[in-house]
Amino acid sequence: MHYTELGLVNTTSMFADAVAGRYAIGAFNIYNMETLVAIASAARETRSPVILAVSESALEYMGDDMLMSMIAGLRLSPEEQIALHLDHGHSFESCAHAVDIGFSSVMIDASDRPFDENIDLSSRVAKYAHAHGATTEAELGTIGGHEDEFTNAYDQLCTDPADVREFIMRTNIDSLAIAIGTAHGAHKMRAPTDQIRFDILGEIAQKVPGFPLVLHGASQIPELFVTEINRNGGNIQNARGIPNDQLRQAILMGITKINVDSDSRLAFTAGVRLELTENPDGFNPREYLALGQSAVYENAINEITQTMGSANRLK
Ligand code: G3H
Ligand code: 13P
Ligand code: ZN
Repeated sequence: MHYTELGLVNTTSMFADAVAGRYAIGAFNIYNMETLVAIASAARETRSPVILAVSESALEYMGDDMLMSMIAGLRLSPEEQIALHLDHGHSFESCAHAVDIGFSSVMIDASDRPFDENIDLSSRVAKYAHAHGATTEAELGTIGGHEDEFTNAYDQLCTDPADVREFIMRTNIDSLAIAIGTAHGAHKMRAPTDQIRFDILGEIAQKVPGFPLVLHGASQIPELFVTEINRNGGNIQNARGIPNDQLRQAILMGITKINVDSDSRLAFTAGVRLELTENPDGFNPREYLALGQSAVYENAINEITQTMGSANRLK
């Protein structure tokens, strides 16, 4: 199946428009019908381009046919701009497989390999993706993320600005994930005064002006969700995300794609826990899953309008 048959788009024109308009495209991870519908509905409601991100493990969880049938079920119209993107693909085979089943964009994450090996694998993926009209993201530097309270994003290996230009030229990728102090999961910066490494972002943006840069580990970890989860039987301690004003600043400095997974996970969990607590005798999954879905939907609307700046950008 080719992605165009499903009404999907690759990231080329949404990134070009975002660079020109100095806003970002939100890449929201999905892993079931509820999260898919929540994000697609938020994009429709806000008239925003959006990227549906699917990790390798989420694809395995849903299964190829089930995911692609659900995407078909969205019945995307020509004016919508929705990309289906493999998040953190770890091999050529995994990325090629995603393209083959109908993904419009893939990320090859070979950031743990030596520079030349990273270039070799990323360029092979880009070549394959481009031959099928799909776009490619690669990663340089190490974005951390042990999902526990001891993570210190500053211990991660930040991208060396000196490598960026050569990496992009030699790989022919369409966007680049950079490591500038963020981390995956709900435990990011150690102190409220910690900051994204704007010095490194500034240097990188100067070396490749207008090239789409990607920020992973960009969840804000809203206190509201953590409080709600803990009030209803959960136990999440010392959670901390990236403040919205830092994300806004990063976008103004050249970040074009912002990845959000943990915020949706927290929203979903907060909604489900609230419903189960308020109705202890209930056992209808549709009732608590609906609450989870609407919490993800509301959070995505909030991030699209307050963080990405991508609302009302459809032509
Ligand atoms: O960047 C990683 C994402 O948060 C996906 O995590 O493999 O548990 O779906 P996952
Ligand atoms: P968060 O864990 O901050 O949501 O990051 C998600 C991400 O980068 C997915 O690739
Ligand atoms: Zn990531």
